[in-house]
Amino acid sequence: MRIGLAGTGRIGAFHAATLAGLDPVDSIVVYDLLPGVARATADAVGGSVAPSIEALLAADLDGFVITTGTHTHGELIRAGLAAGIPTFCEKPVAGDVTSSIELAEVAADTDVPVHIGFQRRFDAGYQRLREAVQGGELGWIHTVRAATHDQSPPPAAYIPTSGGLFRDCSVHDFDILRFVTGREVVSVYGVGANKGEPFFTEGGDVDTAAAVLTLDDGTLASVTATRYNGAGHDVRMEVHGSAGAMAVGLDDSYALTSAEPGVQFPPGPRHWSFMERFLPAYQRELAAFVDVAAGRIPSPCTVSDGLQAARVAEACTLSRERGRPVELSEIPGPP
Ligand SMILES: NC(=O)c1ccc[n+]([C@@H]2O[C@H](COP(=O)([O-])OP(=O)(O)OC[C@H]3O[C@@H](n4cnc5c(N)ncnc54)[C@H](O)[C@@H]3O)[C@@H](O)[C@H]2O)c1
Repeated sequence: MRIGLAGTGRIGAFHAATLAGLDPVDSIVVYDLLPGVARATADAVGGSVAPSIEALLAADLDGFVITTGTHTHGELIRAGLAAGIPTFCEKPVAGDVTSSIELAEVAADTDVPVHIGFQRRFDAGYQRLREAVQGGELGWIHTVRAATHDQSPPPAAYIPTSGGLFRDCSVHDFDILRFVTGREVVSVYGVGANKGEPFFTEGGDVDTAAAVLTLDDGTLASVTATRYNGAGHDVRMEVHGSAGAMAVGLDDSYALTSAEPGVQFPPGPRHWSFMERFLPAYQRELAAFVDVAAGRIPSPCTVSDGLQAARVAEACTLSRERGRPVELSEIPGPP
């Protein structure tokens, strides 16, 4: 199969390497606005460089992978669909909810599949948690705690185009919360703070945020995110129910030490980045996209799924900005 990839930055170069290692993929063509960056990735994976996005889409592709900045996702998903090429796009679907709604409508009007990149859906821990929750092993669920704590911030230039901490980072928690519980969020209260670099405030963002969510069955969830977690990259989800409790991320590399005397857990080393923490999940995710592109399976994470996560992120952002709770019904989109 021949896969085209647009955007060879942090995650694009990483995905190109993963794709190159998949058996069905025998050829990779890349394009980036920065030709030198595209060339470096092409050389690293034995691929070629397209001189423009038009040339990339005309390169007889079996699948199109979008790993450009968030603000370009909408336009490139549309281009992939217009060319009739099965398309994978990194989260989030688009920079704002209005564009995400428009894209969901465009995607619903075509048979060409779109797969949105929420890799946690392919993580063995989250899959086991989902099975336990939806199979009733934990009884009825009362509380969920989710965290996405990056060890260190991305480059300053990334922040103004990221959409903000809830849309960029917590959106993973919002998606996996739906995936694990099978429930929808109905209301949120979000707050944020910046004790780190001033470029967050200058870009209209925060470096740390928290939200309390109520799900449609009355379950309460808390979600926290930060760009400054010196202890390591910490992605976790705890689900507590009437009959049991289970956690994702409570492994030997857990980025937390115990204050209790004599407790040595965890032995370490700590996770340090999303790429290392979720390597097997990214590999399974892109292998699944190859299956989507070959017509073997439907998209495991549709534009509509991406839209629902985007609506929760939008509600949390609005809540933080206005200083009040926000009902999901206030955010445009399907109920
Ligand atoms: N799933 C995950 O865990 C995960 C992790 C990191 C990033 N992401 C997402 O991936 C996307 C990219 O993030 P990143 O950290 O790699 O950003 P980045 O800034 O490192 O890379 C983006 C690249 O896209 C290129 N680019 C921008 N516009 C383009 C266009 N129109 N055509 C071609 N190339 C273009 C830039 O030159 C740059 O090389 C973001 O939307 C981000 O939310 C997802």
